[in-house]
Amino acid sequence: MKVCCIGAGYVGGPTCAVMALKCPDITITLVDKSAERIAQWNSEKLPIYEPGLDEVVKKCRNVNLFFSTDITTAIKEADLIFISVNTPTKTCGSGKGRAADLKYVESAARMIAEIAQSNKIVVEKSTVPVRAAESIMHILRANQKPGIHYDILSNPEFLAEGTAINDLLNADRVLIGGEETAEGHQAVEKLSWIYEHWIPKKHILTTNTWSSELSKLAANAFLAQRISSINSLSAVCEATGADVSEVARAVGLDSRIGSKFLQASVGFGGSCFQKDILNLIYICENLNLPEVAAYWQQVIDMNDYQKRRFSQKIIESLFNTVSDKRIAILGFAFKKNTGDTRETAAITVCQTLLEEGAKLEIYDPKVEPEQIIDDLTHPSVTESPENVKKAVQIHSDPYSAVRATHALVLCTEWDEFVDLDYKRIYQSMMKPAYIFDGRKILDHERLLQIGFHVQTIGKKYQRAGLLRSWGIVPQL
Ligand code: NAD
Ligand code: UDX
Repeated sequence: MKVCCIGAGYVGGPTCAVMALKCPDITITLVDKSAERIAQWNSEKLPIYEPGLDEVVKKCRNVNLFFSTDITTAIKEADLIFISVNTPTKTCGSGKGRAADLKYVESAARMIAEIAQSNKIVVEKSTVPVRAAESIMHILRANQKPGIHYDILSNPEFLAEGTAINDLLNADRVLIGGEETAEGHQAVEKLSWIYEHWIPKKHILTTNTWSSELSKLAANAFLAQRISSINSLSAVCEATGADVSEVARAVGLDSRIGSKFLQASVGFGGSCFQKDILNLIYICENLNLPEVAAYWQQVIDMNDYQKRRFSQKIIESLFNTVSDKRIAILGFAFKKNTGDTRETAAITVCQTLLEEGAKLEIYDPKVEPEQIIDDLTHPSVTESPENVKKAVQIHSDPYSAVRATHALVLCTEWDEFVDLDYKRIYQSMMKPAYIFDGRKILDHERLLQIGFHVQTIGKKYQRAGLLRSWGIVPQL
């Protein structure tokens, strides 16, 4: 069997690499319109950082896994084609700011229709609105050449960045949605056969196409909802003296609730949660289900509130002004073990501090410096990119980032931050020295002993902070 995957990104890359590893009898060609991205996939430094990915790619590349810009040949030769292109939120036109922009999916479908000379199974791997498969089928069938048959399947991807290889190797489930016809069932069987190379058959779930499409949006909405729920309680904890970690543990031990995804944080980021919930909201509005739309909107509103609340806490603690103060930002990626910064909470934190006149010293072990500057000078973040460039310094080492700063703000839960020499850091910082732990990963008792003022999510440490929560502003 020959497989082609259109879109060599965070999903297409790891998914095809694992598929190639587990299916030596299948040839997989991953294509992308970006020649730069394909060149990186063919080089020593892959375009994305993902633990374990390098090893898998090295093993399979040019054996049964190929990276190419020759989309035409790959489509022509393939029996099965994954569409794994990006589906961002629309930035203009109807549905702007909420609906998924399907222009890349549409262009992939049009390419297939134009190029295909034999039957194809087309698999929607991208996350799409419910009934998107219908639009793809419409494009394919409207341009169908005589004698060519298309089947279209939905096969959403559930991997999380930072754990993608493990998630793919040990998927909780693989979901395949198809048409309820004899041909539809056959196509489902063919895709299922690929996964059966390494996934137990009982973990391969088949549904109708619309259920499969909606399940992907639903899964992300549920996951994000848990984070917003625990983050909402973190605000209650800070105001009352409860500890959100203790609350999460007590709640999560109920086997009906479960303990995963209850880590209070500075707010969820990543390219999926917000985009997919906005997409769900848009669908609900269009289906005239405003109450359902409002319900899911609240998950996003709570996340925005959490990001704002954390940023505001930094400013308030630093005597209500950060103007010209140097602040170290440790971690810029939206979570650990990835270099991805899409929708990272660090952008909101940095944006707020920059607007208040702070100077930022940023360190992240995997995010490229150019990416940080691009994110912070984006028109949606600032009107004066030149000023931002002057106020931001990127460091290649955490100790140089924290030197002579007033505060250290931890935005990403990288393991290496836990083991830093905080005595050394304290000595090199301005006094009073503040730590704002947006991920709750540091040993706060120890930091307090060293002399730091510590603020975190969902737990109050400082007397001054407690007084402020009672409406008493401490005297300087
Ligand atoms: P990405 O931006 O990293 O990669 C998409 C790639 O598609 C880009 O390299 C782009 O150049 C390419 N592309 C776009 N249109 C093309 C075309 N017509 N022809 C050839 N190449 C084209 O995106 P991603 O993070 O891999 O996400 C892809 C899809 O998977 C999205 O729908 C996303 O919602 C979904 N998803 C993402 C994740 C994740 O963790 N990132 C997880 C599950 C599902
Ligand atoms: C998510 C889904 O988990 C995955 O199934 C889907 O395919 C794509 O979207 P991803 O965004 O890569 O994956 O990472 P995830 O681990 O879900 O984290 C998303 C954000 O939530 C991160 O910013 C993370 O730090 C945050 N998070 C996660 C929390 O704040 N608390 C938690 O308990 C878990």
